Amino acid sequence: MKIDKAEVIVTSPDRNFITLKLTTDDGLTGLGDATLNGRELSVVAYLTEHVVPLLLGRDAHNIEDTWQFLYRSAYWRRGPVTMAAISAVDVALWDIKAKAAGMPLYQLLGGASRTGLLAYGHASGKSLTEVFDSVNSHLEQGFKAIRVQTGVPGLKSIYGIASNKGLPGNEGVRYDHEPAQRGALPADEDWDTRSYLRHVPTVFEAVRNEFGPELPLLHDGHHRMTPIQAATLGKSLEPYDLFWLEDCTPAENQEALRLVRRHTTTPLAIGEIFNSIWDYQQSIREQLIDYVRSAVTHTGGITHLKKILEFAGQYQIKSGMHGPTDISPVGMAAAMHLGMAIHNFGIQEYMKHGDKTNAVFGQSYSWNNGMLHPGNKPGLGVELNVDEAGKYPYATAYLPYNRLADGTVHDG
Ligand code: CO
Repeated sequence: MKIDKAEVIVTSPDRNFITLKLTTDDGLTGLGDATLNGRELSVVAYLTEHVVPLLLGRDAHNIEDTWQFLYRSAYWRRGPVTMAAISAVDVALWDIKAKAAGMPLYQLLGGASRTGLLAYGHASGKSLTEVFDSVNSHLEQGFKAIRVQTGVPGLKSIYGIASNKGLPGNEGVRYDHEPAQRGALPADEDWDTRSYLRHVPTVFEAVRNEFGPELPLLHDGHHRMTPIQAATLGKSLEPYDLFWLEDCTPAENQEALRLVRRHTTTPLAIGEIFNSIWDYQQSIREQLIDYVRSAVTHTGGITHLKKILEFAGQYQIKSGMHGPTDISPVGMAAAMHLGMAIHNFGIQEYMKHGDKTNAVFGQSYSWNNGMLHPGNKPGLGVELNVDEAGKYPYATAYLPYNRLADGTVHDG
């Protein structure tokens, strides 16, 4: 079974998505999500110019060999662009193999280790009232675990806080997607860590009092703290029993987590910007984290993330795969199949895609009573409607960044 055709499809229904579609000589197709939020076209060029010509004529069944060939033959290893491209090829080949086998992908990965995947949603608000409203709306949608992000008094806008006013052109409609905004420049936001450290524990105290001790609560620090600040926050959140504190320090320095770990029992999650097992070497071996945040789409696909999670499992570290709306339904389905099969599944991040995105990507996965299931169609269970995709041309979009009061660019 040879790879006969490889197409890179760019579409921007609710936001930009890059999809690799492989077709074999016997007519099977496979999809891979190659979306790299805010840097999408670099992966398009990498795939089109350097990967597609290498794939044509290769045996679609040899997934491990293709992975090793793309990783090692490039000479330049790792990095988000390379690894997003390899991920897309890898997932598309798993999709094809599972279709050839007539099985949902999780069956090929070892079969179901559970009946469904606990998922968490994103609640947020500028004020406590808005936070409570957002938590309530997530509970009504069936969420059994909720990430809580809050505005900070004195700061105008903060990444991860939904806009209640809506986006330009869609005013009045609450925007619950990650705020990658279309436009020629990234939006700049302001930041003050001391105000944040004072305010966040008061919000979690109020949320615990309002919603009780059972509800798993998560929080994302977006890499903005120094190790000693992160240790302080972890300690001050201990009474509110967080499921995890995510990205507390800039992720590229694994050693920073040693200091955080020495001072707090709040569980730690990290890794959404990682793309290789080497990024986790120290944090897994030294048990500096509790959850691996990598996305299937940015970490070398099913083949490589499965290896990372097996390594993590030896240290009782669980999965917490990245799943905001910039992971397309193709990438989400891949995460769900992997999550079903591994032993050390922890939780899956889940934000519902918009109607336009769902019309472009038909899905067999389901959301039921707080749990996700990838469905039982052969392969990933996602189909790309090329005509719908063609309606939405690429639009430049960037994630926001932030500056301190004196104008210094800060971590984000
Ligand atoms: Co995060």
